[in-house]
Amino acid sequence: MQEKKRTIVVTSALPYANGDIHIGHLVEYLQTDFWVRFQRMRGNDCVYVCADDTHGTPIMIRARKEGRSPEDLVAEMRERHVRDFADFQVSFDNYYTTNSPENKAFCEDIYAKLDAAGALLREDVTQLWCPKCGMFLPDRFVKGTCPHCGKEEQYGDSCENCGATYSPSELKDAHCATCGSRDLESRATQHVLFDLAKFKEYLRGWLGDHTPPDVAKKLQEWFGEDQTLLPWDISRDAPYFGFGIPGLPGKYFYVWLDAPVGYLASLRNWAEANGRSFDALWQNPDVERYHFIGKDIVRFHCLFWPAMLHAAGYQGPTKVFVHGFLTVNGEKMSKSRGTFVNARTYLDHLDPAFLRYYYACKINSTTDDIDLNLDDFAQRVNSDLVGKIVNLASRGAQMLSKRLDGRLGRMDEEGRALLESARSRSEAIAALYEARKFSQVPVEVCRIADAANEYFDRHAPWKLVKENPESARPILTSTLNLFRVMAVYLAPILPVVAKKAAALFGEPDFTWESVMRSVEESPIGQYEYLATRVDPDAVQAMIEAGRPKDAEPSPSQTAASPAPASTGGGEPSSAPAKPQIQFPAFDAVDLRVGLVESCRAVEKSKKLVRFELDCGALGHRTIFSGIRSAYPDPSVLDGKQVVFVANLAPREMKGVGISEGMVLTGGDPATGLAVLTTLAPVRPGDPAC
Ligand code: 2FM
Ligand code: ZN
Repeated sequence: MQEKKRTIVVTSALPYANGDIHIGHLVEYLQTDFWVRFQRMRGNDCVYVCADDTHGTPIMIRARKEGRSPEDLVAEMRERHVRDFADFQVSFDNYYTTNSPENKAFCEDIYAKLDAAGALLREDVTQLWCPKCGMFLPDRFVKGTCPHCGKEEQYGDSCENCGATYSPSELKDAHCATCGSRDLESRATQHVLFDLAKFKEYLRGWLGDHTPPDVAKKLQEWFGEDQTLLPWDISRDAPYFGFGIPGLPGKYFYVWLDAPVGYLASLRNWAEANGRSFDALWQNPDVERYHFIGKDIVRFHCLFWPAMLHAAGYQGPTKVFVHGFLTVNGEKMSKSRGTFVNARTYLDHLDPAFLRYYYACKINSTTDDIDLNLDDFAQRVNSDLVGKIVNLASRGAQMLSKRLDGRLGRMDEEGRALLESARSRSEAIAALYEARKFSQVPVEVCRIADAANEYFDRHAPWKLVKENPESARPILTSTLNLFRVMAVYLAPILPVVAKKAAALFGEPDFTWESVMRSVEESPIGQYEYLATRVDPDAVQAMIEAGRPKDAEPSPSQTAASPAPASTGGGEPSSAPAKPQIQFPAFDAVDLRVGLVESCRAVEKSKKLVRFELDCGALGHRTIFSGIRSAYPDPSVLDGKQVVFVANLAPREMKGVGISEGMVLTGGDPATGLAVLTTLAPVRPGDPAC
C-alpha cells in the first residue's frame, strides 16, 4: 500500500473550440480519466483540469462566416464539449476556457517576465496580406499550386501530394483560402519571438527527466552541438481573436502561447472556487504535475512550454505523458468511410462504457498508435466484459434475489481461497494503473473472471437453487464477492458499472481499499443492469450516421435486396420484407432455449404477455411479448421450451417492466402467430439453431 497521500495536478490537452470531440480525441481524455480516477481511489489529492482552446484565426473566420461573435461561438462549443465529456464520464474538476480573465493575466505576467529576462526578440517578418479580408494570412489560409509537383489547391505550408514544405509566397497561383482573392500582397510586420536557443542547455537536461525516452531522444536530435533552436514567433497581427500584447497595439499573443497557459488559468479558477491556492498547487515542489498529450504536439509541450515556464519563474511539469494516434479498422479515421466518429454520434448508438473498456484494453504507456477494430471491439466487450464479468453478477445476483431472499451468506472455502488470490493482485494491478499500462488491467481482471466462471459453472448454482437452495448460497456469495473485487479493479475504467456494483452491496463508492473487505451475511440491493452486449447493428448504424450523406453507401447497403418473401399460396406477406443481411449479422444473434415457468397476460395491456423463463446457466429472464391475440390463454405455454434471443438489449416496456430478450414466434402477425417451441427436450440455456 502506498504510504503518503500525494497531491497531483493533471491536465489533458485543451481541445480546439472549432470542432466537436471525436473518438480520436477520446483516446487522450479517457486514459487521463482512468489515471485520475485511479489516483483518487488510492486516496490521493488529484486535481484534473482542462479547458477549451478558443483563440486564433480559424475561430475568428468561422464566427465571421456564421455572422456572430467569436465569444458566442466558443461559448456554444464549450457547452457541446462539456456535454460530450460528461456523457463519456470524464471527471474533470474544472473544464474552463482559455478566453478567461485568469488566462489573460497569466499571459501578461509570463510575457512581462520573459521580456525582463531578455528572452524576447523583435523581428521584421514578411507575410502574405489579403486586402479583401483585411488580414495577414496564416500559412493554412493560403492555397495555391505546389511549387514542386504542380498539384493544385495545396496549403501554404506543405503539399499533401508530394510532402514538400515551403513558404506561402513560393506557391504558384497563391490565393486567399477564405475569400479566394488572388490579389495578395507581401507585407512586412514586426513580430515578437521567444528566443528558444537561450534555453538549449536547460532543455537538454530537462527532456531526459520529464518526457518519455523516445520523445526526449527525438527532440534532442534537433539541438546537437552545431544545431540551433530557432526563435519561436509568439505574436500575431490584428485582426485576431486572442489577447492583445500589452504595449504593442495591434499585436496579439499567438494561440499556441496562450493555450498551455490555459492549464494554469483553469487550475487557478478551480483553486479560487474551492478554497485552494494556485501557488500551493503549481508552484509547490512537493506537488506532482502531469500533462497528457498526443505525439503531434510534443514541440509545444516539451520545448517551448518548459522553457517559457522556466524563464518566467514558474514550475514546469513533473512529466509529460505522450500517447499515439487512433486508427479505426487499421486506417486513419475517415469521414467517407464513416470512421471519423464524433463523440455524440457514438453516444447516440452505443454505451460509453464499451469504448472506455475497449480503449483500456488497447492503451499502454507508449507513443504507439492504437487501433479500434470494430469487430474486435464488439467481440471483446461481449465476450470479456459482458460474457465473463457482468454476467457473473447478473446471474449471481438475480438467483440470490429470486430464490434466496437476496441475502448473502458465508463463502465456502474454495470461494474464499479464490477471493484471496484475486485480492493478492491488488498492488500489482495498482502498479499497472500507476505506470499507465492500462491494457494489462483487463487481462488481470479476466484471469480472475475465468477462475470465477469455472468455479460458478462447476458448482452449477442454478441447479442447486432448485434442488437444495441453501447449498447455492455459499456459491453465490463467493461469486458475488469475486465480482465485487473485479468491479473495484475496473472502477477507474468503468466508473458507472462500479457505482452500480457498489450499490448492489450497499456501498456508496469503492476505494482501492475496498478489495480488502468481504461482503457476507448481508442483503444485496436490487440488481441494476450493468452492461448489455454490443449490438453489431448499432455499430453499423453509428458508422452510417457518421458518413457524409452523399458518400458511397457501404457494402451492406448495396447488397442486393431479396425479392419480397411470399407465402406458400403466392399471396404477398402482410409483413414488409426486410433487406438481406450477411451471415455475421445473423451470427451475432444469440438464440437460446428457455423453459417457460409461467406465461400470463399483462393486466394493463391488450397485447402483451409476460414470460418467466428458466434460462439455465443464463439465469432467469422476464420477457414481454405482444402475442396476446394469438394466445387468449397464455398459460397453455407453461412448461414449454421456447426459443428466445438472449443477447437483445433489455428494453423498458412502458409501465410494465423491463423485457430481457425476445421470444421467437413465427407466422403473420395479421393472421396468427405461434411461439417457436422445441420438439426434443433440450437443457434450458443451451443454444438453439
Ligand atoms: O492540438 C490541439 O488540439 C490544441 N488545441 C492543444 C492545445 S494543448 C495546450 F497547449 F493547451
Ligand atoms: Zn481573403
